[in-house]
Amino acid sequence: MLKAPYVTNYLTEHFGEDDYGTLEGYKRRGGYEAARKALSQMSPEEVIDQVKDSGLQGRGGAGFSTGMKWSFMPKDSDKPKYLACNADESEPGSFKDRIILERGPHLMLEGILIAAWATGAEKTFIYCRGEYAFPGACVQRAIDEAYAAGVFGKNALGTGFQHDVVLMLGAGAYICGEETGLLESLEGKKGQPRKKPPFPAQYGAFGMPTTVNNVESFSHVPFIINNGAEWFKGFGTDKSPGTTIFGVSGHVVRPGLYELPLGTRLDEIIFEHAGGVPGGKKLKGAIPGGMSMPILPAGQLEVPMANEFLREHKTMLGTGGIMVMDETTCMVRAGVVISYFFRDESCGQCTQCREGTGWMHKVIERIERGAGTDRDIGILEDVAAKMEGQTICAFADAAAWPIQGLLRHFRNDFEEHVSRKKCPFSESFEL
Ligand SMILES: Cc1cc2nc3c(=O)[nH]c(=O)nc-3n(C[C@H](O)[C@H](O)[C@H](O)COP(=O)(O)O)c2cc1C
Ligand code: SF4
Repeated sequence: MLKAPYVTNYLTEHFGEDDYGTLEGYKRRGGYEAARKALSQMSPEEVIDQVKDSGLQGRGGAGFSTGMKWSFMPKDSDKPKYLACNADESEPGSFKDRIILERGPHLMLEGILIAAWATGAEKTFIYCRGEYAFPGACVQRAIDEAYAAGVFGKNALGTGFQHDVVLMLGAGAYICGEETGLLESLEGKKGQPRKKPPFPAQYGAFGMPTTVNNVESFSHVPFIINNGAEWFKGFGTDKSPGTTIFGVSGHVVRPGLYELPLGTRLDEIIFEHAGGVPGGKKLKGAIPGGMSMPILPAGQLEVPMANEFLREHKTMLGTGGIMVMDETTCMVRAGVVISYFFRDESCGQCTQCREGTGWMHKVIERIERGAGTDRDIGILEDVAAKMEGQTICAFADAAAWPIQGLLRHFRNDFEEHVSRKKCPFSESFEL
């Protein structure tokens, strides 16, 4: 029995029905009709235009227009073209792709087939994080079923279009979710991000033009093809159309997955859908979009969950992974945990990132232990500022932003640790 998502919309409507993950169950609910329509009735340009018009923004974190990205694939190249489906989902606080991989793998595969037609790609590599053994197995089973039924291969859906799909499991590194780290890992190398340009559309997997999209981004596409761009724009805000699957974790009564229109207010998601903070405690702050996004304090939770509004609060939607913290949370300790993760996951190519993540962790840990000074808070601000926008990939920014957010909104916590020479929240330093 599926416990989550607690709230469904078009994307996850059938996720609670066990046979939806099978080809037969998926087809019974109209599955692969959108792909059939795209491949037999629409030109690649028409598909790209429809996805562009829908305003679909990538759900992997950066929020870039999906249709626009597809249009960057070269049209006159004689090289093979590829797609990469980013199923790495390593961002702490994010678990929305997992439910698609487990409960709706054919939805993602159908989106991939449509994207392949639109971009002229002959092969898709699905890169799934190694820890997702079960979700990976669900996808492999769906791929096998789809091949057996002629959905993929030399004559996809009997249309004469050729497309192949392979699944690859990673080995558990956060940085392999960054699209060029992913491509390196896919090629069997160390998952170290590439300098850009050239971008993947020019030089991607094995040096061939490649488009990288997130699992959820692909999964919205069949609905757009079936129902049209205007229908899709009926959900969400003017600038951020559609729904997304918000993952809510931390100090809430009902942690889980909630498919809601973009622009739904953060306080509505936390208090109405996720049941608010347990035990009558007050909410202290919430991270809106996975651990790399800056935290918001309790007073700023009325913000609609869409980038155009979140940016005004110096944060972003990221992956929509909402992490809620109640009044008992020590924000310095939260900083220790966050900085520990980023220190461990830096790939080490850039000095600012390799050294900066280590310094930040060392200094925050010192403050948490009660051995920090006023100067340490300044050092944290200085190091975080010097990491931003300086490096090969956005990992260093992703490491600096949450610490900057904690200092912006919870500076008191840091200052109290320094003045009391101990953590005011707990005697123990156990993490
Ligand atoms: C450090 C880092 C980690 C990332 N991890 C992921 C991830 O796990 N899954 C994902 O889809 N995108 C991740 N991204 C974003 C990808 O680089 C890329 O923008 C995305 O896969 C594009 O898909 P979309 O346009 O459909 O969102 C990460 C980016 C960075 C900088
Ligand atoms: S910013 Fe960090 S993770 Fe990204 S390439 Fe540089 S060292 Fe590696």
